[in-house]
Amino acid sequence: MDVEPAEQTAETVRQLRALATPDGAVALSRASALLENRVDAVAALSRLRAEVGTELAGPAWGIARQRQKARATFGSDADRLLFTSDALEQAGRPELAARRAARLLAGGADSVADLGCAAGTDTIALARAGARVLAVDIDPVARELTALNVEAMGVADDVWVVAGDAVELVAAARGGEVAGCGAAVLDPARRAGGKRQLDPDRWSPPWSTVTALLEKVPTSLVKVAPGLDHDRVRPGVEAEWVSVGGSIVEALLWGPAVAATWRRATVVRDGVAHELTADADPGFADAGPVRGWLHEPDPAVIRSGLVSLVAADLGAALVDPTIAYLTSDAPADSPFVSSYRIDEVLPFNLKKLKALLRTRGVGRVVVKKRGSAIDPETLARQLRTDARGTATVVVTRVAGAPTALVCDLT
Ligand SMILES: C[S@@+](CC[C@H](N)C(=O)[O-])C[C@H]1O[C@@H](n2cnc3c(N)ncnc32)[C@H](O)[C@@H]1O
Repeated sequence: MDVEPAEQTAETVRQLRALATPDGAVALSRASALLENRVDAVAALSRLRAEVGTELAGPAWGIARQRQKARATFGSDADRLLFTSDALEQAGRPELAARRAARLLAGGADSVADLGCAAGTDTIALARAGARVLAVDIDPVARELTALNVEAMGVADDVWVVAGDAVELVAAARGGEVAGCGAAVLDPARRAGGKRQLDPDRWSPPWSTVTALLEKVPTSLVKVAPGLDHDRVRPGVEAEWVSVGGSIVEALLWGPAVAATWRRATVVRDGVAHELTADADPGFADAGPVRGWLHEPDPAVIRSGLVSLVAADLGAALVDPTIAYLTSDAPADSPFVSSYRIDEVLPFNLKKLKALLRTRGVGRVVVKKRGSAIDPETLARQLRTDARGTATVVVTRVAGAPTALVCDLT
């Protein structure tokens, strides 16, 4: 997490401890009630100060706000967990943490080092999956959050929270173990000063620690940025991209003892995980002329380099060698793509597109694009009229030429 000055860190730790007392619990539940009743911040804080005292009011309000945000992801657990805004931003989804934990432990490892535990969401998933967990963080606020959260979730007996530097621990790893544990999870901080840190060498811990861990501790899992360059993934390591509801939510590197394939795309739709794997690079799909249907591969399929597998399965071709849109004669019954019926194909030209939509009675469009500089929202606004019909307009390149595909006209 972002480094706070030492005094501020000590103050945050003190506040978290105060909130974990019975008085703190009262303050938190009052703050949550005020938030739920949509009392504005100034009025809510002054009421809280009067009811629970100035020491608890501010921190309780802050945590209640984080809990409100966390509810969509953590459900009812959110009302028992403590998050700072920084820790919540870095926390993974619990259902995916549980899935990762089960896979990491499937080979029989019973102790795991969680290297960079933040608010402890991975630690909790690992303990729930049956492991003894050494939860390590360099940041005292993270350690406090993890200690309080494992207590709140009833798994504290299986968790040891310790101060430590993952860089040093990994450097000292021997015999397939790190910090005395036979398995490890490393989730480097990939943000600094509120910004995404694109260069893996500047993550904390940095890329050198990622590669050292995967090499020295075969039963290991590293969370990485979805944009990670494939060239960085060493042979024997499996790279997995996971999407939920059509957006990539995590990218993972599995150490050699857990790796089961070369690349994996996991697409979660309506709570069900669909997996596509390749043991070797399947190469590129062929390109061909536009046919009756367009298929948009899920981003996890695209990022994992598995578009050609889906193309082969659907009997589809790329609309352009450089663009990840597929085309075939039939809609696809596949979780790995979304299909659109192609009704019109025209060279991209705003005037002609407007004229076509007018003659087809279309007043509202959803714009999708790939390989084009247009702004989808601006174009959708420009194409809007009072007409009743709807369509999906896909702006892309077809055999190198800027093209509009008008799909699903109603
Ligand atoms: C992305 S967060 C981990 C999130 C956590 N896995 C979760 O799902 O909630 C990264 C954590 O690594 C910690 N960290 C960064 N550098 C570290 C280092 N050298 N040693 C130990 N912890 C470190 C940060 O303080 C932060 O809490």
